Amino acid sequence: MRAPSRTMSARAAAPLLALLLVAAVTLGGAPTPTPREDAIDFPDEDNEVLDPRKVVDLLGEEDYLDVLVGGGEDGKWLSLPGFGIFDGCINPPAECPNSNVTFWLYTRELGGEPEQLDVAVPESIEYARWARGKPVKVLIHGYTGNKDYSPNTEIRPAYLNYSDFNVISVDWSPLAPSPCYVQATYNVALVGNCTAQLLDEMVRLGVAALEDIHVVGFSLGGQVAGNIANYLRSGTLTRITGLDPALPLFTTISTSPRLDASDARFVDVIHTNAGWKGKLLPSGHLDFYLNSIIQQPGCSWDSSCDHARAPAYFAESIASPQGFWGFSCTSIISFYTGLCSPGDAAEMVLMGEHANSSARGVYFAYTNPTFPFAKGHDLGEAVENLHNATSQVSGALGETALNATSGSHRPSLHHDN
Ligand SMILES: *[C@@H]1O[C@H](CO)[C@@H](O)[C@H](O)[C@H]1NC(C)=O
Ligand SMILES: *[C@@H]1O[C@H](CO)[C@@H](O)[C@H](O)[C@H]1NC(C)=O
Ligand SMILES: *[C@@H]1O[C@H](CO)[C@@H](O)[C@H](O)[C@H]1NC(C)=O
Ligand SMILES: *[C@@H]1O[C@H](CO)[C@@H](O)[C@H](O)[C@H]1NC(C)=O
Ligand SMILES: *[C@@H]1O[C@H](CO)[C@@H](O)[C@H](O)[C@H]1NC(C)=O
Ligand SMILES: *[C@@H]1O[C@H](CO)[C@@H](O)[C@H](O)[C@H]1NC(C)=O
Repeated sequence: MRAPSRTMSARAAAPLLALLLVAAVTLGGAPTPTPREDAIDFPDEDNEVLDPRKVVDLLGEEDYLDVLVGGGEDGKWLSLPGFGIFDGCINPPAECPNSNVTFWLYTRELGGEPEQLDVAVPESIEYARWARGKPVKVLIHGYTGNKDYSPNTEIRPAYLNYSDFNVISVDWSPLAPSPCYVQATYNVALVGNCTAQLLDEMVRLGVAALEDIHVVGFSLGGQVAGNIANYLRSGTLTRITGLDPALPLFTTISTSPRLDASDARFVDVIHTNAGWKGKLLPSGHLDFYLNSIIQQPGCSWDSSCDHARAPAYFAESIASPQGFWGFSCTSIISFYTGLCSPGDAAEMVLMGEHANSSARGVYFAYTNPTFPFAKGHDLGEAVENLHNATSQVSGALGETALNATSGSHRPSLHHDN
């Protein structure tokens, strides 16, 4: 990470501030499965789709977005007042089908040669070589991604190795390139609309049943998944899995554009970089927080690594013999203050692909630092870990905030997903 040229504080302090706000919101109140974030939101304007210019107005000139322009070693850091609006970014017409949102079918039979599903050409959907009657898994990448980028790289092979599923990779890469984060968040609604249109067509043409469709979105793709519900006409989605759904710009807007429990019958969420690149507050019916919630073992304070662990854990969960098991705790604050400890193995809840769709609430789980990440039910060291995590993270969050204000460590969105 490069040393930035400017210092700032408001944004860097956000995780700490958010923790304090969670404390204020959750302490004392009875736990609910999906605490609303409205209490800490900016006043929202009648559930409209987010307009980046409005967000800039709301955030004002005090906030910054770090972007790495050009990418890699040759890239250049820019610190932008407000969230940057770049002239070169696409602001496409809100029309579906849209040539910049494409859908690719993968099955065992198709191997590495996907077939494109094009809503403008119904035959491409009707006569695609589906694994008929088999579950449909829809994978959605995030900022700077594409169909051959996380979470597709981890999860697609894991699904196809596990069973003869239909995997559809959504590719909206032309609408989500660096440094266009703001425009990418704006395009999330459009991608949700176009994906809903595809799913409606699949149902209409009888190639898939709505009950068999499971949408899995990573980072900004998790927010796309939440948007599908706003446009789907054939019914309610059965399941959405949000993998560390994106935080930046999604704290300040109303529930309709972001992933929440109303978006499918079952919304399960895995948080691995909570309060930083990923959402801090619960976003579904069943929310798992891993390890110290913001940082993952083996990642050494690289938030892109922490963030990318969400698809890695989920991919492993598909065929894991041990499984990832979590214990219940009513809130992050209770977890941090040591009020919860892993109880009876019988009360633990399974995370990932095979999660129980009736399970509700907030759970905490631990992983190994390297593959295989799953630890099964074995939380022998969990109580000790819990206290270690508490002290380490509260120390580290403080240190990060200090580092951020002194300019040596700041949140940034480069190589985000
Ligand atoms: C798709 O993206 C290209 C640039 O990659 C842009 O010129 C074009 O207008 C976009 N088309 C639509 C339909 O959004
Ligand atoms: C969603 O896409 C359809 C088809 O292009 C369009 O008619 C509709 O206006 C879009 N909805 C929004 C809110 O953009
Ligand atoms: C594929 O699945 C088999 C078991 O069916 C397993 O032994 C193998 O490790 C898996 N391969 C990968 C790459 O996950
Ligand atoms: C799923 O969870 C529900 C609600 O907690 C519980 O009643 C049921 O026994 C669980 N099913 C399985 C297979 O664990
Ligand atoms: C917890 O921290 C103590 C003191 O730093 C250390 O000795 C112990 O190994 C840690 N336990 C675990 C399970 O990491
Ligand atoms: C904070 O900065 C110090 C000195 O540059 C560094 O050793 C430490 O790892 C940083 N901590 C975090 C959490 O980034």
